[in-house]
Amino acid sequence: METVVSGIRPTGRLHLGNYFGMVKNSVEMQKDYRCFFFVADYHSLTTHPHPKDLHGTVREVLAEYLACGIDPEKSIVYLQSDIPETTELYMFLNMLAYVGELERSTTFKEKVRSQPDNVNAGLLTYPVLMAADILLHHAHKVPVGKDQMQHLEFARNFVQRFNRLYETEYFPMPQAFSYSKELAKVPGLDGSGKMGKSEGEGNAVFLTEDPESIRKKVMRAVTDTGPTEMNQQKPEPVQNLFTLMKLVSSDDTIKHFDEAYNNCTIRYGDMKKQLAEDMIQFTKPIRDRAKSFYDDANFLHKMLSDGEEKARASAAKTIKEVREIIGYRKF
Ligand code: ADP
Ligand code: TRP
Repeated sequence: METVVSGIRPTGRLHLGNYFGMVKNSVEMQKDYRCFFFVADYHSLTTHPHPKDLHGTVREVLAEYLACGIDPEKSIVYLQSDIPETTELYMFLNMLAYVGELERSTTFKEKVRSQPDNVNAGLLTYPVLMAADILLHHAHKVPVGKDQMQHLEFARNFVQRFNRLYETEYFPMPQAFSYSKELAKVPGLDGSGKMGKSEGEGNAVFLTEDPESIRKKVMRAVTDTGPTEMNQQKPEPVQNLFTLMKLVSSDDTIKHFDEAYNNCTIRYGDMKKQLAEDMIQFTKPIRDRAKSFYDDANFLHKMLSDGEEKARASAAKTIKEVREIIGYRKF
């Protein structure tokens, strides 16, 4: 059976972009693959979270991950920081990663621009740590959103280099995976780009957000003054609302507003009201379940100990074999 690895950074609550970008695929993959899912709590150190906040967000994200349908009966669920083998593989892979290519990564360049006071080496080698997560369990498939594609390309390059350098086929080539034709990019409410927690207040709808706050955000979403010609093309902010609607609303609803747009009778206020209600409806079961997972410390503790044991067994085997391949052998 093929192996799947995916992780999520505990940098805040999960939003609809995370859900439709990667969590939904992860949940579905559990029936077909051997899955490892983890909270990437080493990766989140690049932004220097306060220890108390780190602990809190790990618990929050974990509860939300489970509420979405990640099932510890089917998958191995763990914390990245419980698997010290990760850091050893990270160190080995760093020897195969070139500073030039890491500096050219879009995410790194973006961070250099957005946080010039904290361009730490961990940011530069972020893709190497992610590759270590993936290779540690010999992943074949990695469910991620479109914005992670470049990071996955790094992992693929390291596999190729490792296998070539040591004349082996030890690591399988990991592939970004989605059940739909393309990797997802969920738009935000601010009219451009993607939904993301760092894209500004009001852009992302969180899975555990309370209904009143969802209504307010959606009503404030960017649109335009409305169509003036029959069947005209939708400008980006309006198209974004339709894209979001496709994720959470029924076919009839989408058809209704699409027709209204095409014959210029659409009222964005009505569309937003409907979109907000459908988002609330969609997130309700996740919101409810997340709360009960969050409150059940015993369950979380036991699940993470189980996950740690299984993930470490897999990781320790890889490290042992990698050391052997590299030439660290007992006398
Ligand atoms: P954020 O952008 O909010 O910081 P992350 O970078 O932590 O989110 O992303 C976690 C996962 O969710 C990744 O697999 C990423 O590809 C996916 N993801 C995040 N935002 C979106 C989006 N708007 N559309 C599709 N996938 C997304
Ligand atoms: N970089 C990913 C993100 O920001 C999180 C992540 C870390 C990850 N390690 C991974 C995703 C391994 C998939 C596989 O979303």
